[in-house]
Amino acid sequence: LAHLKSKVKSGLRQFPDFPSKGVLFEDIMPIFASHALHTTLIEALELQIAEAFQTQAGEKSEIDVIVGLESRGFLFGPALALRLGAGFVPVRKQGKLPGPCETVTYKKEYGEDVFQMQSDAFKSGQKVVIVDDIIATGGTAAAAGQLVRKLGGTLLGFVFMMELDFLKGREKLDAPAHTLLSGQEESSGDGK
Ligand code: PRP
Ligand code: MG
Repeated sequence: LAHLKSKVKSGLRQFPDFPSKGVLFEDIMPIFASHALHTTLIEALELQIAEAFQTQAGEKSEIDVIVGLESRGFLFGPALALRLGAGFVPVRKQGKLPGPCETVTYKKEYGEDVFQMQSDAFKSGQKVVIVDDIIATGGTAAAAGQLVRKLGGTLLGFVFMMELDFLKGREKLDAPAHTLLSGQEESSGDGK
C-alpha cells in the first residue's frame, strides 16, 4: 500500500493562491488524466478500505453502499463501489435531486451550504462508507454523516484521499476516518 500511495501522491499538483490568496490548492485532476495513476488510486483506496473496515481477511466486502460527496467525491466513488461490490449513492447540493429528500445545512468557510440525499437511496441498516477527496474543516463530511444517519444507515466510517491535519476536521466526525495520503500539515490556508 505504501508504494501505491507514493505513486498516487506523485500525481498531485499544487497551485499557490488558488482559489484565493494564501490558499495552497491541491489539484487531484492529473491523477484522473493518467490511466495508470487512476488505476493505482482506485487500487490503493480499495486496499485502504479493506484494511480499515473489513476485519475478516479474505472475505468479500461487507460494505453495502459507497456514498460520494458532490462534486469531487463523484470522481472515484463509483469506481470504488464497483470494485467493492457495493452500490453508489450521491450526496448532492440542494435542488439537484428529485423526489423526497433528507436535507442538512452545514457551515462553509463563508456562509452556509445545503446537502441532500434521496430518502429511499438505501435501506435502513445498510452499511455505508462515505468518500470525498479532502477533509479540511470537516463541515462537509460531518453533514454527509448526518444525512446517512437520518436515512437509517449504519455508518462504518469515512475515507478521504487527503486531509488538512491542522484544521482538525476529523474531530467533527462521529465515525472512524481514514486518509489515504498523509496529511498536509503546514498552515497555509484551507488547501482546497
Ligand atoms: C471541497 C472538497 C471537500 C470539502 C472539504 O469541496 O472537495 O468536499 O471542500 O471542506 P471542509 O472539510 O472544510 O468542509 P467544495 O465544497 O469546494 O466543492 P467541490 O467538491 O464541488 O469542488
Ligand atoms: Mg467537495
